[in-house]
Amino acid sequence: MQKIIGFLKIYTSFLLVASILTFILSIRSGFCEELQENKALDEKVRIFLESRKGTWHDWNISYSDGKILHDLIINNKYKNALDIGTSTGLSAIWIAWALSKTGGKLITIEIHEGRHRKAVANFKEAGLHEIIDARLADAHDLVKELEGPFDFVFSDADKDWYKNYFIDLAPKLEVGGCFTAHNASNTGMTGIKEFLDYVESLPNFRTTIDTTSGSGISISYKISELCKEKSFQRRQIAERQFLVTKYLMRTNPRIS
Ligand SMILES: C[S@@+](CC[C@H](N)C(=O)[O-])C[C@H]1O[C@@H](n2cnc3c(N)ncnc32)[C@H](O)[C@@H]1O
Repeated sequence: MQKIIGFLKIYTSFLLVASILTFILSIRSGFCEELQENKALDEKVRIFLESRKGTWHDWNISYSDGKILHDLIINNKYKNALDIGTSTGLSAIWIAWALSKTGGKLITIEIHEGRHRKAVANFKEAGLHEIIDARLADAHDLVKELEGPFDFVFSDADKDWYKNYFIDLAPKLEVGGCFTAHNASNTGMTGIKEFLDYVESLPNFRTTIDTTSGSGISISYKISELCKEKSFQRRQIAERQFLVTKYLMRTNPRIS
């Protein structure tokens, strides 16, 4: 009997090591990719952001929140991004700026025609219009229709719909990708607590909240495809994958 138990222990350890190695190898190529350098574009975006400081009045994100999104994309080399709630385009500009370095692209959705038009003009002025696919649509419908896959989502539209956006997008999110949501610290806002309680309850997501700015940005990493609660072994593997992802992706040190 002891021999069988001993064998099972060795076998289980072997499976865990093998799965971790497979995971590392499967994502390693992504980390070895170089970032693309475009000094002229960088300069153009910088000048645009500098010239517009203090002029964003359409519920746009703060400079520090923009930097958090930008750095998350760069650190993880994300390429397929979705921005829900364009407004006049500030979050999309930070996201697209990062994607210009990773070689990625962005879809952004806005329901209000005037803000959508202003955003499109801003994207052109910042030099990022070729990376951004700006849609004038109700995100409640369009998010369901988009095929994906995505590796980065930023949710900043109607807070009471955050949970629904997440439910629609979780299956379209790649493992290692993340779903971020603005105003995560404002748990008094309708829908925020419900959304956070939901994502934090999921066995295949790990959520942290970056509180650098007062608004807070939740960052939910998808660590595996959905595994059944009962499958203890798969959950253990998922836990290890999360730790490896966290280490390899060198997440923003400010993240708690
Ligand atoms: C907080 S603002 C977004 C700010 C933007 N992320 C930025 O940093 O510039 C929220 C935006 O979501 C839009 N919105 C609200 N409900 C929406 C929906 N169902 N579909 C698309 N956009 C929506 C609003 O019109 C508003 O412009």
